[in-house]
Amino acid sequence: MTRGSHLPEEAHLGPEDFRVLRDLINAYCGLELPPDQRASVERRLRERLAILGIDEFGEYVRLLRSDPLGRAEIEEAVDCLTTNETYFFRESYQLRAFRDEIIPLLAKQAASRKRLTVWSAGCSTGEEVYSIATLLLESPELHGYELLVYGSDISKRCLAHARRATYGLSAFRATTTEQKKRWFVERPDGWLVADRVRQICHFGQLNLLEAERAPAVGRVDAIFCRNVLIYLDGRSRKRVIDLFHERLYPGGVLLLGHSESLINVSTAFELLHLREDLAYRRPVSGFGFASPRPMRAARPSGEPSERPGAGPSLRDSQSSLRDSQTSLRDSQTSLRDSGTLRDSRTRLLERLARAEEKSDRAEATRLRTPEPFPAPAKPKEPGSHPPGSSPGRGGDGGSGGGGKVGG
Ligand SMILES: C[S@@+](CC[C@H](N)C(=O)[O-])C[C@H]1O[C@@H](n2cnc3c(N)ncnc32)[C@H](O)[C@@H]1O
Repeated sequence: MTRGSHLPEEAHLGPEDFRVLRDLINAYCGLELPPDQRASVERRLRERLAILGIDEFGEYVRLLRSDPLGRAEIEEAVDCLTTNETYFFRESYQLRAFRDEIIPLLAKQAASRKRLTVWSAGCSTGEEVYSIATLLLESPELHGYELLVYGSDISKRCLAHARRATYGLSAFRATTTEQKKRWFVERPDGWLVADRVRQICHFGQLNLLEAERAPAVGRVDAIFCRNVLIYLDGRSRKRVIDLFHERLYPGGVLLLGHSESLINVSTAFELLHLREDLAYRRPVSGFGFASPRPMRAARPSGEPSERPGAGPSLRDSQSSLRDSQTSLRDSQTSLRDSGTLRDSRTRLLERLARAEEKSDRAEATRLRTPEPFPAPAKPKEPGSHPPGSSPGRGGDGGSGGGGKVGG
């Protein structure tokens, strides 16, 4: 290739290079890049070509495949392609449910430890982490508890911002004046998260597909993984959810974004019905189906049965489950973020749960082998945190997240 023969703005990402690039990115972090995003990926990655002085995508793809440089560049590419949109107190109805209904439950479960740990997986620039921390700090049930909130993300750039803990106006689009006064301090460069909140927050880089690094987070009482799974392919979602199941204490709670669910992903959690929302819980007993309302995923349509004897009643339940899934997706699209969505989501998820339950009852005994009750986790040292992480204090520089492709 002759350097300078093309301006990067003219570089074209052909279907074959796109396929290779998409597979490399997907294998690294689970991000799904459908064919219709080729132009958008091309636009986003031109910036990398310009920085590297590369004129053609063919060469860029060869670089991504090379060792060891390729690995570092994949990280950069992922940073260009992921969506980092976030803000304080996002999906406030869910946070209210967490504060009013889940925290009291978790406080009881953690009473002997007197320590409560929450993990925000895919925390972007940290707003979710700090929002959760304020809820823990204001909960009377947690008085006297050691409180920890871990935030992890694949993006070092986002984590640098999270540690800096200073935010501009757009981060406060769902924050009340009262919350702002209570938990933030105005500075010339923006609003800084109050000291007492930052003290319980810790950040570390973690690719959720690298499960072997996740034990650094320790066992946790609750996991928030909101608006992350929607960008991942089905197999990667399953890997991530299996990891969450393993990291949660029995009885621990998993909270997903409003358009995400465990349908077709995992059978190991039970549904936790809240007044305004639904969450998932790792069963307290060793048996995933001990709950009166277990969550069980249907097989994707067209996928053959793995087990002989999956009879018509299971197929009926699965098809009614698929119908419910379709109408759930439709109503989520049209009613996104509205109060009606919450009611509708609750109703539809309840229908799903019933459909799943139907297939569960027939299948539970054959499908599940009891999971041994895990040994109590060794208490971690106070203040310990993931490798490469640091408490969300101080620091400066870095930039905020911004909407990008990736979903
Ligand atoms: C849209 S943001 C969600 C932020 C926050 N959870 C919220 O709901 O406001 C999605 C984040 O997931 C991160 N992410 C995507 N794939 C990831 C992976 N495999 N491992 C860790 N983080 C990932 C992205 O870097 C991005 O910051």
